[in-house]
Amino acid sequence: MVAGIARGGVERRTIDELLRLLDSRTPATAAHSSRVCRYALKLAEAFPELDGPTLEPAFLLHDVGKLLIPPAIIEKPCALTPAERKIVETHPVLGEELVRASGLDEAAVLVRSHHEHWDGSGYPDRLEGPEIPLEARVFAVADAFDAMTSTRPYRGARTWDAATTELRRSAGGQFDPEAVDAFFGRRRELFELYSAYTSSNAAVAGGSGRVWAHSSADATSASARS
Ligand SMILES: [Fe+2]
Repeated sequence: MVAGIARGGVERRTIDELLRLLDSRTPATAAHSSRVCRYALKLAEAFPELDGPTLEPAFLLHDVGKLLIPPAIIEKPCALTPAERKIVETHPVLGEELVRASGLDEAAVLVRSHHEHWDGSGYPDRLEGPEIPLEARVFAVADAFDAMTSTRPYRGARTWDAATTELRRSAGGQFDPEAVDAFFGRRRELFELYSAYTSSNAAVAGGSGRVWAHSSADATSASARS
């Protein structure tokens, strides 16, 4: 028991240190991670198989691999070149390696698979349908929603209505239909979270004025760098 508590304390400090690094390196990503975690925890409540508190570190660290991507690419305030996009798309694998090396193996699956798409068009493993871990399918909806409703230097944030319409349109394509249904099943609580974030433009822009770019506003593109 004592060893377990000690291990938990070490893990908590490791998570906090990685989040601190992420915040200092790319504050917009850190702010995004915090918002997405809240959305994902709410969505996870719809799935008895998922344990939110256990998943919280993975939700917070999903983009930690961006610590290993050049800041000039992560923070680029306009569309990425194809070569830059390929580099960004290594962040799930880099992130998995980083969390495993940090002793956070329980976060590895979500970190690696958070950009997989239900229709098999995602990365890095092009998993399809239920091949994708459930927590990643659920998380992907929260991740894309926050990406779409966040301000970028070259476009405004999408409204609640526009973003939720896009989620519905992408059910069965980018997203697991059950995960999208879970979003709409909890839309009142999710709208409260969204409203709290959007009441402060600074919060949605990342809280720092430093932001990173998407190439367009559709759910697929918006989540490609989320
Ligand atoms: Fe990501």
